[in-house]
Amino acid sequence: MIVIRQERKADAAAREFLLDRAYGDVRFAKTSQRLREDRLPSTGLSFVATDGGAVIGTVRLWDVSAGPGHAALLLGPLAVLPEHQGAGIGGRLMKQAIAAARMRGHGAILLVGDAPYYGRFGFSAEKTSSLWMPGPYQQDRLLALELQAGALEGASGLIGPTGRRAAKSRDGLSGPGVVVAAVSNGPVNSPTPRAA
Ligand SMILES: CC(C)(COP(=O)(O)OP(=O)(O)OC[C@H]1O[C@@H](n2cnc3c(N)ncnc32)[C@H](O)[C@@H]1OP(=O)(O)O)[C@@H](O)C(=O)NCCC(=O)NCCS
Repeated sequence: MIVIRQERKADAAAREFLLDRAYGDVRFAKTSQRLREDRLPSTGLSFVATDGGAVIGTVRLWDVSAGPGHAALLLGPLAVLPEHQGAGIGGRLMKQAIAAARMRGHGAILLVGDAPYYGRFGFSAEKTSSLWMPGPYQQDRLLALELQAGALEGASGLIGPTGRRAAKSRDGLSGPGVVVAAVSNGPVNSPTPRAA
C-alpha cells in the first residue's frame, strides 16, 4: 500500500538514493539547491511516499524570503522513483505538501519547475515576474502558489534562504538532524550567486 507520511530521520539515506536516481548529480548544481544547502527544511514540511515501508517518493519545503518583507516556502525537490512514476504518487505528495503548508499558516509556495506539471496544483508564473533566483534559471519556470490571497502582492527582489541552519557533517554535506542556529524569522542572508 502506498502511504504518504512525514519524513523521519531514518528515511534520509533512502531519500538521497531516490533523488540520485531521479535527477542524477545535476541536482547539486541546480540554483534551487543554493537556497537549500546548509539549511533544514521548514518544520513539519518533509514528506515521503512509501510502498511496503520502502521510500519511493519525496518532497520537502524550505523557508525563503520572496524579496524583502515577503516570507514564502520553496518546494523541492519533488521526485518519485522511475518505476513508480505515472501512478499518481507525485500528485499525492504535492497535495499533502500544499495542505500541510496551508495548515501551518504559510502564505505562499515558490518552485522552479515545469508549468505543465505544476499548473494542475495551481502554480503559475503570474506572481513571480519581479522575483529572481540566486543563479541561473528560466524565469518562466519560476512558479508560485498563493495559499493566502495577496501573500505575494508586491513581492520583488532576490529569493533568499531564511530556514534554520543545518550543521555540516564530516563529509561536508549538510546533516539532516542538527540545528546550530534558529533564524527562521531573522534577516534574509543574501546568497552569493553561483553558476548552476
Ligand atoms: C515529476 C514527477 C515527480 C511526477 O511524479 P508522478 O508520480 O509520476 O506524477 P503523477 O503520477 O502524479 O502524475 C503523472 C502526470 O504528470 C505528467 N507529468 C509528469 N512529469 C511531467 C512534466 N515534467 N511536465 C508535464 N507533465 C508531467 C504525466 O504525463 C502524467 O500526466 P497525466 O496525469 O495527464 O497522465 C516524477 O515524474 C519524477 O520524479 N520525475 C523526475 C524528477 C523531476 O523531474 N521532478 C521535477 C519535475 S519539474
